[in-house]
Amino acid sequence: MKYINKELTIENFRIKNLAKKFTTPIYCYSFNKLKENIQNFKNNFKSINPLICFSVKSNSNTKLLREISKFGLGADVVSAGELMKALLAGIKPNKIVFSGVGKTSKELNFAINKKILLINTESKSEIFEIERIAKIKKKKINIGIRLNPNIDAKTLSQISTGKKENKFGVDEKKFLELVKYVKKSKNLDLKCLSVHIGSQILNDDPYGKMLDILDKVIKKSKHVFEYIDLGGGIGIDYNNNNQNLNLNKYSRNIEKFLKNNKSKIIFEPGRYIVGNIAVLISQITYIKEGHKKDFVILDAGMNDLIRPALYNSIHRIIPVKAKSKLSNKDYEFVGPICESTDKFLTVKKFQKLDEKDLIIICDVGAYGISLSSNYNMRPKPFEILIKKSKIKILSKRQKLLDLM
Ligand code: LLP
Repeated sequence: MKYINKELTIENFRIKNLAKKFTTPIYCYSFNKLKENIQNFKNNFKSINPLICFSVKSNSNTKLLREISKFGLGADVVSAGELMKALLAGIKPNKIVFSGVGKTSKELNFAINKKILLINTESKSEIFEIERIAKIKKKKINIGIRLNPNIDAKTLSQISTGKKENKFGVDEKKFLELVKYVKKSKNLDLKCLSVHIGSQILNDDPYGKMLDILDKVIKKSKHVFEYIDLGGGIGIDYNNNNQNLNLNKYSRNIEKFLKNNKSKIIFEPGRYIVGNIAVLISQITYIKEGHKKDFVILDAGMNDLIRPALYNSIHRIIPVKAKSKLSNKDYEFVGPICESTDKFLTVKKFQKLDEKDLIIICDVGAYGISLSSNYNMRPKPFEILIKKSKIKILSKRQKLLDLM
């Protein structure tokens, strides 16, 4: 993105023109950025040669998934719907892993019929259920067991998953019991140990600790796992202050781990692949004077992007038309939804804004549209992709009539 004659452009497209053509709010994605992220991910972990399964929950747009699949990525899915989408996008079943604590019998049946690479199980009951289905089908099913390593991922509590109080995976004791059980089963093939300790991780220590714990648990299990699925979680620099995880260090730690464990590594990144590839373009409907601050009321709301309301997450806001004058008061950027949490950001010393001006909200590619809703009966926005100097429509804005 750059300003040309004080007007913000994305890969030479004037945002103003995009807004005019599609009408705001618009999710606008960059193919170049997607490609760069995938290449960076592959380069950082080159020596390990992992299977990279894109976490579909972070963005499940079919056309975007199709672009991702062309780079050879597989998929990490958590429901029959996500599995269908991944298959529809051309991702091969032997590159799909299925996680989640509450897969229903119907979903398990579907996954088994589609012959996906792995079902990563999260409880004894789920293992029994897969075994029951496998017996009926007279099949042997590849499964993983998710370990809860009881590690603080040093991220937001709402997106931590690897502590013992979280519902995910099983603790070491249970894990070792389940390994024994599955090894004796005629209908289950224990292929994988899986783990995912949380999301938006920017600190190296938790991953280091996780690998140490895995090493110990694997030794105790006396089982050779064909796959070790390390999950996702790699954070991105939302604040634009160069706070990044040291992927090189993570990769070297994994290399060390692999000296004792001859397994194929699986990763399930979501945010790292798509987080910074999109912006949300929005227009200011009104500016309303408040007591100590002015409310900048946007035409995008928490139904379009819920992360600030749900996790207090920061998404930078940038004006489309650069002006030199500063605002007198702080600005609170809010949406039109009837909830006090429907606010995006409060900023001091922002440039002066006017009603009808356009702004963009940054880094909304992951958990943006996938967490969006029709709350307040608002249609979902347009999604477009800039690819090779062309605009491709990823999904059209819903029509009000579609919602009736
Ligand atoms: N694998 C598993 C088993 C997961 O549960 C998740 C995310 C991922 C992979 C992908 O994690 P990532 O690489 O994207 O961090 N809605 C929240 C994030 C929730 C993450 C849920 N699980 C947010 O907007 O920050």
